[in-house]
Amino acid sequence: MKTLHIASIPGDGIGKEVVPQAERVLKAVAELHGALRFEFTQFPWSCEYYLEHGVMMPEDGLAQLKPFDAIFLGAVGNQHLVPDHISLWGLLIKIRREFEQVINMRPAKQLAGIQSPLVNPKDFDLVVIRENSEGEYSASGGRIHSNEDEIAIQNAIFTRKGTERAMHYAFEVAAKRSGRVTSATKSNGIVHSMPFWDQVFHEVSQSYPAIKTDSQHIDALAAFFVTKPAEFDVIVASNLFGDILTDIGAAIMGSIGIAPAANINVNGKYPSMFEPVHGSAPDIVGQGLANPIGQIWTAKMMLDHFGEIELGTHLLSSIEAVTKQGILTADLGGSYSTEAVTDAIIKAVQKG
Ligand code: NAI
Ligand code: MG
Repeated sequence: MKTLHIASIPGDGIGKEVVPQAERVLKAVAELHGALRFEFTQFPWSCEYYLEHGVMMPEDGLAQLKPFDAIFLGAVGNQHLVPDHISLWGLLIKIRREFEQVINMRPAKQLAGIQSPLVNPKDFDLVVIRENSEGEYSASGGRIHSNEDEIAIQNAIFTRKGTERAMHYAFEVAAKRSGRVTSATKSNGIVHSMPFWDQVFHEVSQSYPAIKTDSQHIDALAAFFVTKPAEFDVIVASNLFGDILTDIGAAIMGSIGIAPAANINVNGKYPSMFEPVHGSAPDIVGQGLANPIGQIWTAKMMLDHFGEIELGTHLLSSIEAVTKQGILTADLGGSYSTEAVTDAIIKAVQKG
C-alpha cells in the first residue's frame, strides 16, 4: 500500500466548499487503484485564522508543511476581514517562494459539454509552463525624485539557471504529450532579456531532437490563443507572459471555475502545491453554487505529479463524462450543486 500524505489548506470562501469535495473524489480514485491511499491533514490557515492569531499561518507553518508529499490548496482571500495583500503574501506567496515552486503549470482544454466563448474552439488542449520565480516579477528597482522629475525603475531578472530550468521542464512535458514546444518571446521589443531567452531556448532544444519547436512574439501568441488555440501543445513563457497567457487559457475554457493549476518544486527539496486558478468567490459562497471541477482537475494534476498517469487520465475522462451529460453548475449554465456534480464525477470514476 502506497500512502500519500497531503497537507490540505481549504482557505477561505468556496475553497472550504470545493476542497472537501475534491478529497472525496481522490479517495474514490484511490479505492479504484486498490494499493494507493491518501491521508489528508487539515490546516485551518485562512483569513479567519488571521483574525484570531494575527498571522495567516503560524511561525513554524512552513516547517509543518515540509514533510508532506504535496499541498492541496483551495483559495485564500476575504477582503472584508483582511486586505488581499496580507492574505496573499502571508500564505500563498510565502509557500510558493520558500518552497522553491519555480514552475507554474496550467493546462487549458476544451471539455465536452462546456461552451467556450470562442465560436470555433476546435478541441484545443494545451498547457502553459510559466517560469514562476524571477523574470519581470522581481523586486529589483526603485523610485527616486518627485513630481515632474519622478523616476520608476523596474528590473527584470533572467538567470541562465532559472531560464534553462523552465525550458527543460517544458520539453519534458512535451515529450509526454504531442511533442511540440512554443516559446513565448518578445525579442523584437525587449532587447536584452528576450534575445537571451531565445538563445537559451535554442540551446536547450538541442537536447530534445524529437521535439518540434517554434517561437512566437507574445502579442501575436495572445491573439492566437483566441483565434487558433488548437494549434498549440506546450507553451513555455516567462513569469509575466505566462501570467497573461494562462488567464486567456482559463477564459477560453468557458469558466474560471474549471481551471486547474500546479506550482511545482523541481529539485525535490520541498512539496509542490496544487490549487485551482479561481479565488474564494465571496459572491457565491455558502450557496452550493461553486463549481468543484477546478479543484478536482487540480487533483488530477497532483495524480500526474505522483506518476499516477493512468489514474489522472481516468479522472479527467470522468470529469468530461459528467460535463458531456450536462451535469453542470450555474457558472456553466447548469442548475446542479457543488455536491451533485461531485457525486456524478465519483460515479463516473467508479465505473472504471
Ligand atoms: P474569484 O476567482 O474568487 O471570482 C471571480 C468570479 O468567478 C466571481 O464571480 C466568482 O463567483 C466566479 N467563480 C470563481 N470560482 C468559481 C467556481 N469554482 N465556481 C463558480 N464560479 C466561480 O476572484 P475575485 O472575486 O477577484 O477574488 C475573490 C477573493 O479571492 C479575493 O480576496 C482574492 O484576493 C482571492 N483570490 C485568491 C486566489 C488564490 O487563492 N489563488 C486567486 C484569485 C483570487
Ligand atoms: Mg493572473
